[in-house]
Amino acid sequence: TDALKIGIAGLGTVGSALFRAITTRHNMLADICGREIVITAVSARSRNRDRGFSLDGVNWYDDPVAMAREADIDVFVELMGGEGDPALAAATAALAAGRHVVTANKAMLARHGVELAKLAESNGVLLNFEAAVAGGIPVIKAMRESLTGNSVQRIYGILNGTCNYILTRMQRDNLGFAECLAEAQRLGYAEADPAFDIEGNDTAHKLSILTSLAFGTQIAADEVYVEGITNISIDDIHAADELGYRIKLLGVALKTGTGIEQRVHPTMVPKGSMIAQVEGVTNAVTIEADILGELMLSGPGAGGDATASAVLGDVADIAKSRPGHQHAPALGRPAAKLEPYQRAQ
Ligand code: NDP
Ligand code: HSE
Repeated sequence: TDALKIGIAGLGTVGSALFRAITTRHNMLADICGREIVITAVSARSRNRDRGFSLDGVNWYDDPVAMAREADIDVFVELMGGEGDPALAAATAALAAGRHVVTANKAMLARHGVELAKLAESNGVLLNFEAAVAGGIPVIKAMRESLTGNSVQRIYGILNGTCNYILTRMQRDNLGFAECLAEAQRLGYAEADPAFDIEGNDTAHKLSILTSLAFGTQIAADEVYVEGITNISIDDIHAADELGYRIKLLGVALKTGTGIEQRVHPTMVPKGSMIAQVEGVTNAVTIEADILGELMLSGPGAGGDATASAVLGDVADIAKSRPGHQHAPALGRPAAKLEPYQRAQ
């Protein structure tokens, strides 16, 4: 059978890890998927940057939108980031041209996920975004596939690796906030603009995507109450410790009698609780569902390899899908049927 041709836009922390994973596991992936996965095109800002691997034989595009539209690819993998263009223009162009899109870009999905899902569905292609929420944890698959038919009452968790890393290091090693943030940046966990992490907006983006999947509503990122960790001091952490608590940045979405509530804020959790044991870059998501009961997923929430693992899973799903097969809707139910978000009174 024909190889699956993919184009990667963005060769930074995640894109480079994906490039390496696909090229070094070429034969294994071909065995598992029943066809080869071949990177035929790439795009990034600086063509001459040494990325530690050779781009020989791969078509280079300065413009990711041109790559999305014109390159010989079946799948456009968007790993540039940013809620607007060029990521949005490129993803839109790829879907409109009948190419599948895989992205890790929660900022773009939080703002434009519903329109992108509609475009994917009307063009009969997939929009996969496992890596956009909680890094390597397969929470999107759990929500959109495994929990089908469940009614979700509440979903909450630690959704930002950078913040959890900072809070853990401050508590365990008595380090200052700025030092811990710089380390998280060095390790490839933070956003290009780390204000998104520490001010809570990245958690809000992820929470709004989970809310849509959990409750079948349109994504409503602006409805999230957001408070980050910028005001948390070592003294706060020690005071909480003395009282028997850890401080965690949580994202919480729940159904109330009058609508849906979404909030992000630092929270004191009892030291003995499972969520208090989630340390460092690890994320955790708890889902309370009526048929299943309570599910907690935890694992690496950020970092090049862990995130590339989720992106690779999305690409492999496309490689394995049969031609003419009816794809499941991107947001768990057809985008046109998503209910408007109902803010709790
Ligand atoms: P980086 O900043 O490391 O990489 C961004 C890449 O995009 C770079 O290769 C850059 O090019 C390229 N790029 C930026 N702007 C343009 C442009 N206008 N045209 C072409 N290429 C462009 O980001 P990450 O790899 O960390 O993140 C990528 C995406 O994945 C983001 O959406 C992020 O939120 C998401 N994500 C990241 C995780 C992580 O742990 N890092 C985890 C989960 C999701 P150049 O290299 O030449 O500068
Ligand atoms: N900056 C994000 C985090 C990357 O720290 O969780 C993963 O989405």
